[in-house]
Amino acid sequence: MAKTKVLVVGVTGETGGSITNGLLDDGQFEIYALVRPKSIHKPALLAFQNRGVGIRKCDLKASEEELMDAVYDIDVIISCVGPAEQQDQIPLAKAAKRAGVKRFVPCGFITVCPPGGIMWLRDEKETVYNHVKQLHLPYTIIDVGWWYQISYPRLPSGKVDYAMNTTNDEIVGEGNTLTALTDLRDIGRYVAKIIVDDRTLNKMVFAYNVVMTQNEIYSLLEEISGEKIERHYIPPEAIYHRVLAARQSSETYPFDSIKFIPRYIAEYQLSWGIRGDNNPEYAKYLGYITCKELYPDFEPTDIREYLESVVQGTAKGIYTDRTVSRAYQRSFPRTESSDSLAGRGWHRTPSSDSLMAQAYRRTESSDSLVMKGR
Ligand SMILES: NC(=O)c1ccc[n+]([C@@H]2O[C@H](COP(=O)([O-])OP(=O)(O)OC[C@H]3O[C@@H](n4cnc5c(N)ncnc54)[C@H](OP(=O)(O)O)[C@@H]3O)[C@@H](O)[C@H]2O)c1
Repeated sequence: MAKTKVLVVGVTGETGGSITNGLLDDGQFEIYALVRPKSIHKPALLAFQNRGVGIRKCDLKASEEELMDAVYDIDVIISCVGPAEQQDQIPLAKAAKRAGVKRFVPCGFITVCPPGGIMWLRDEKETVYNHVKQLHLPYTIIDVGWWYQISYPRLPSGKVDYAMNTTNDEIVGEGNTLTALTDLRDIGRYVAKIIVDDRTLNKMVFAYNVVMTQNEIYSLLEEISGEKIERHYIPPEAIYHRVLAARQSSETYPFDSIKFIPRYIAEYQLSWGIRGDNNPEYAKYLGYITCKELYPDFEPTDIREYLESVVQGTAKGIYTDRTVSRAYQRSFPRTESSDSLAGRGWHRTPSSDSLMAQAYRRTESSDSLVMKGR
């Protein structure tokens, strides 16, 4: 039987890399990477080429005709682009429709969150989903909860810094909100099943390994490492203030990463940490099918096993090829625990104090941010 031809956009990235690995390991796919010309010599790409991945050289910002050439004879397209590149998928979707692609997987792969004003990043993705639906292009939307790889805090010893790109030292609210987690490496294993499954066509699918609270993650890492981790709780009011201030700061469009990164981090904390959106029950309410229902025999990577590897120094870091990631790692403090990525992003906004003050005044009358706090 002919293999399903899959084109992955973003193979040099974290999500795209996991998916390409999952498809290769599965063995039933003929895999192509859509790669922009400037990235054609990246080591991550060459490694995939050596394992049989074909190249379709094209930038997402190219013309629809060029994109048509890149997607001809492809059965399934999977897109894994970064937060600032979501709208760039729209011409690709149009080309896919014209080329007769059988299934388009737009770039979801985030936490569960309702559309319409909670998370800018979710709404960026929803705009693309709406275009896909208007085209009558067959699709599957896949979300994955939080990666294990960004869920755990630093250890005071600095032992796990090699695997991290932020200090990740904030507990949202009281730290008891349940949130769904997935090992980044399992995303590709789930995707290999989802994209050949008729039950997932024109559906939203939620793939997750486990549901835990932040306090439980801290306790597990303390148990594994034998180290005591300071718990730095951020009250809901502080999150609301950050969200409002970051929204005001990022009003200018097109986005400035210095402004939109703090915004989407604050909105993530609002959604999964305060509202409790990122859990399977709410996902089902929103219309997702979960992978626990679809693939009851799937064996996910255990979070304890993953954290043990992190503490032992054998885990693979994320974003380690990025200058910004290396810079963050170098600047990790060894003594204080109050400089999360969100905090750093915040301090970079020159007028942050005045914005914070304005945000505070607004909070009392802002119904849109007074969430139910599950
Ligand atoms: N659930 C979670 O915990 C979690 C965590 C992080 C991210 N995410 C989600 O996952 C998605 C992917 O994020 P990521 O961090 O995996 O991405 P990433 O590592 O930043 O990779 C982005 C990929 O997109 C490619 N790309 C960007 N612009 C392109 C263009 N114009 N033409 C062709 N290719 C282009 C990049 O290729 P080049 O090599 O050419 O740059 C790169 O391979 C995001 O949308 C985000 O929402 C979820």
